[in-house]
Amino acid sequence: ITGSGTSSKVTATLPSGESVEVLLYGATVISWKSNGGKAENLWLSEKAALDGSKAVRGGIPVVFPVFGPPPKSGHPTSALPQHGFARTSRWEFLGKATSEDALDAAGSSVKLDFGLYSSNLSPEARTAWPLDFGLVYSVTLSKDSLQTVMNVRNEGDHSFEFQMLLHTYLKVKDISKVSISGLLGVDYVDKVLNATTHKQSDASVTITGEVDRVYASIPQDTTTVLESGTPRFDVVRDNLQDTVVWNPWKEKAAAMGDFSPDIGFTEMVCVEVGAVNGWQKLDKGEVFEGGQTIKSLL
Ligand code: BG6
Repeated sequence: ITGSGTSSKVTATLPSGESVEVLLYGATVISWKSNGGKAENLWLSEKAALDGSKAVRGGIPVVFPVFGPPPKSGHPTSALPQHGFARTSRWEFLGKATSEDALDAAGSSVKLDFGLYSSNLSPEARTAWPLDFGLVYSVTLSKDSLQTVMNVRNEGDHSFEFQMLLHTYLKVKDISKVSISGLLGVDYVDKVLNATTHKQSDASVTITGEVDRVYASIPQDTTTVLESGTPRFDVVRDNLQDTVVWNPWKEKAAAMGDFSPDIGFTEMVCVEVGAVNGWQKLDKGEVFEGGQTIKSLL
């Protein structure tokens, strides 16, 4: 752990140079470098707050227990802010495990575990969502991939419902050359077009303006981000059926005080895996686990 107080972070590096950096604030992954540490895979705004004053603009913020604006009233999450409290709470560092498996072609890996429990919440968050839960978030760095997995446990006497999402900002060179495959035939809610439902009828999604789509119940496991037709990232879902594709484009990016540089929207695309279509229900003592493996294909 380096840094102090609200800006504490955990860094891990493999012998071959790859690295990952995770802020305790939000358990937000803010950097993931592959290719011997030469290639940064995540986009992070130059004006992202890294001092715990607001959710990080970039990296991989964790969305829990509600995605987007919560239901207006009548739902247990209704009093929470957009995307819930996980991304703005300070997590505990639970420890590090390394493995050096000579038989594993991928070589060594390092796993960092972070925990967030009801007792870690701010009084406001605790009041807004007074349920007893435990989250363990595991971030595993391997030579060419990063795996991030969330384990949600109901530690109270009452059942609860939640949504979760890993809000990954992938770094790309030029959005005009990006295409996204693996979503063909999937229904999505288009938040830019008044939340209307459409079916993905092209094999690839290209981004030429604001995009904010919630692809739901995706049968295939992998979404691929290509640059100039060459695969750049595979995003593999594990027990998560939904994926949001988001790019704010020029005007919305300019309207965000923490989005920098102005042309940053041409260098990022969010591919966000999650369980956000409806709610996941956990009874007393039950556990849910879901996550992603992002492969850097450079
Ligand atoms: C995406 C949502 O997941 O997050 C968008 O689909 C939203 O609608 C975006 O604008 C960013 O949210 P925030 O709260 O980090 O500005």
